Amino acid sequence: MYVLGLDLGTSSLKALLMNKSGEVVQTATADYPLITPKPGYSEQDPQEWLNAAKKVIEELKTKVADFEDTLEGISFSGQMHSLVLLDENDKVLRNAILWNDTRTTAQCEKIMATVKNIVDITKNIALEGFTLPKILWVKENEPEIWAKTKHFLLPKDYLAYFLTGNKSMDYSDAAGTLMLDINKKDWSSEIREAFELNKEIYPKLLESTSLVGTLKAEFGFKKEVKVFAGGADNACAAVGAGIVKPGIGMASIGTSGVFATYEDKVRSYGGKLHFFNHAAENSHYSMGVTLSAGHSLSWFRDTFSKGEDFKNLLEGINELESSLIFTPYIVGERTPHVDSKIRGSFIGIDTTHTIKHFAKAILEGITFSLKDSQIIMEEAKGEKFKTIISVGGGAKNSDWLQMQADIFNADIQTLTVEQGPGLGAAMLAAVGCGWFENIASCAEKFVSYGDIIKPNSESVKKYERLYAEYKKVYGNTKEICHSLSL
Ligand code: XUL
Repeated sequence: MYVLGLDLGTSSLKALLMNKSGEVVQTATADYPLITPKPGYSEQDPQEWLNAAKKVIEELKTKVADFEDTLEGISFSGQMHSLVLLDENDKVLRNAILWNDTRTTAQCEKIMATVKNIVDITKNIALEGFTLPKILWVKENEPEIWAKTKHFLLPKDYLAYFLTGNKSMDYSDAAGTLMLDINKKDWSSEIREAFELNKEIYPKLLESTSLVGTLKAEFGFKKEVKVFAGGADNACAAVGAGIVKPGIGMASIGTSGVFATYEDKVRSYGGKLHFFNHAAENSHYSMGVTLSAGHSLSWFRDTFSKGEDFKNLLEGINELESSLIFTPYIVGERTPHVDSKIRGSFIGIDTTHTIKHFAKAILEGITFSLKDSQIIMEEAKGEKFKTIISVGGGAKNSDWLQMQADIFNADIQTLTVEQGPGLGAAMLAAVGCGWFENIASCAEKFVSYGDIIKPNSESVKKYERLYAEYKKVYGNTKEICHSLSL
């Protein structure tokens, strides 16, 4: 029997077909474009996601002989927060406004001023990326579209609707809309009333492993295929990395960087971190976001050493002294400084520095930024992480893995096969199908761990000193960056 995880990302849909032993049977990917009509705008045509889904399903039919007879369930991981609006006939009313669109600063200010207790209700502050500010933007700027709006969904829920004909949203994605009352696990009536939103537009809420429906006949499967609600991509990445019990952190470095941990109870970080429902049963996760993690390194390489591969650029950095500080705020920051106008800095440049010193400082700066989130979590919980699971680009370079162990001052655990959020999605389908009692028991079979990298006590001390200096850079450059942005 097979389950299919569909990871609806920002640039592509990735399909991951798994068997009951937790082995990858096959994968397929289909890309789609971003639409950027103006600076700061980021949109996508939802039809592209549906076309991509049809394409990966057809590809799997040709690649895997027993796919149609053996597929039992499908679930999803989805880019978070991105707004899809439907009319009374369930037709898409406009392009989806994506999570990385920044047009909604005024709406965020209005939300914070109108619903003073928004952090108590949602455990988050209003950020441009979240869904509610996008809804208010459409309401204010496109009243003709708003007048026709009968439903809103997030990307993976629209894909689930396409596959089954049923509309719903799981709690982990609903939490990222800024409209969910996290304690009550229901849409907040206070927020709905404050912005005069019609009750009918809200989708039905489901657990991530709950059944949305069965795959429509038009997809040509002879037997019934169950479709389960799925989860937000960060929740699914955490599930796929085994972040399904307390005490473990996850450092995920892609274009942006995320430091996340499992939370067994609702906790208030006062909006300093994101706090969302988890895709694993009755739990939550907290998360800090570094907007430009891998992006800082690729920007540096493309600007100062175009064409060089990362391996060469980073070769030998472990032999260099750390004497340069980089702050990765090149497109603004989310955690720990919610500041869209802050910009990056190199501090301490001298004539002995080579391009490799800069590259090393960038890796250190990204890791320091994730450490900021680690510390917020550790201080709130009153205990230190013993193990941090490293995934993404940061896990692909052994010097960077050692650096993470030394900067986080914790054991770094790697995964043997890294399938990202798609694995979490497949695991949700596996639990939905009843293959496992719960996500934690599925993780025992589906998540396989590799090497553990231990911190080096001398390097830990050096990095403690450097981190203390790094911490001073934000406050000392804030005013300069803000006035440069005018
Ligand atoms: C999380 C966030 C991004 C998206 C990417 O708050 O905005 O990580 O989930 O898809």
